[in-house]
Amino acid sequence: MVEVKNVSLSINGKYILKDINFEIKKGSFAAIVGPNGAGKTTLLKIITALLKPSSGWVKIDGVEPEKYLRRRRGIVGYLPQKAIVNWNLPLTVLDVVFIQDVKPFGFFRRYSDEMLKLANHWLGVFGIGNKKDELIKNLSGGEQQRVSLVRCMVGKPELLILDEPNTAVDAVYNVRMYEILRKISRELGITIIMVTHDIGVITEFVDEVMCLNVKLHCHGKPSEIDLSRMLNTVYGESFGLLLHREQCKNCMFGVRDDKTSD
Ligand SMILES: Nc1ncnc2c1ncn2[C@@H]1O[C@H](COP(=O)(O)OP(=O)(O)OP(=O)(O)O)[C@@H](O)[C@H]1O
Ligand SMILES: [Mg+2]
Repeated sequence: MVEVKNVSLSINGKYILKDINFEIKKGSFAAIVGPNGAGKTTLLKIITALLKPSSGWVKIDGVEPEKYLRRRRGIVGYLPQKAIVNWNLPLTVLDVVFIQDVKPFGFFRRYSDEMLKLANHWLGVFGIGNKKDELIKNLSGGEQQRVSLVRCMVGKPELLILDEPNTAVDAVYNVRMYEILRKISRELGITIIMVTHDIGVITEFVDEVMCLNVKLHCHGKPSEIDLSRMLNTVYGESFGLLLHREQCKNCMFGVRDDKTSD
């Protein structure tokens, strides 16, 4: 579904990304982890055609990202790290969910029954079904983040690109959100590439993990890679990995440990 071949990007003679190669199959839920400045957001921008690599190429479903994005609106749901919505505007949740469909001076347009049904479905899935007529400025940061996810989903995406979708959500909802995303990938066959710093719990939910720091240091199923060693390589020796043990499968915070398994 997403193929990245020999991708490098250098700016002013400095490598931001160097020789990145990977492939993600359709319907897979993949996480990218790595320290600040590792090039994670840059990589997502290259995949979504917002940036061009200095060398190498990306293909989505066999074609260049620009061409893939032109197939239809909403085919890629992209949640950027920095909000593109001005949350102080006098808009309701529904307005923001359908912001691409709102024409100038069209804030008072009525939404079709089909649009409302779709919005209600996804607002419900993300636990904000009762907020659809609220003004967005009255929502909490975590609720605003969920609205952004709903906005991606009403576009009926084939590919979801999420850049730290969980920065503002609380620990309980965090786990819930990963469960929802896993369900979305499994049941709807939507491919998900998500950047997160939430290393402790993410391995329980995703199909594959990529450790990035300019280079791609590892890529594989969480069970197959020596994540602790890789994260030490990527984050530095001082990194203490928050691990879940088998017996704390449903706990929220994991157990601090410095081994990969026990
Ligand atoms: N337009 C640019 N010009 C110069 N340097 C840039 C530019 N864009 C990104 N960088 C640099 O590239 C590096 C990677 O940035 P990027 O935003 O991809 O990191 P990240 O892994 O997403 O980090 P974070 O976890 O903090 O979000 C950073 O050092 C950043 O300063
Ligand atoms: Mg980033």
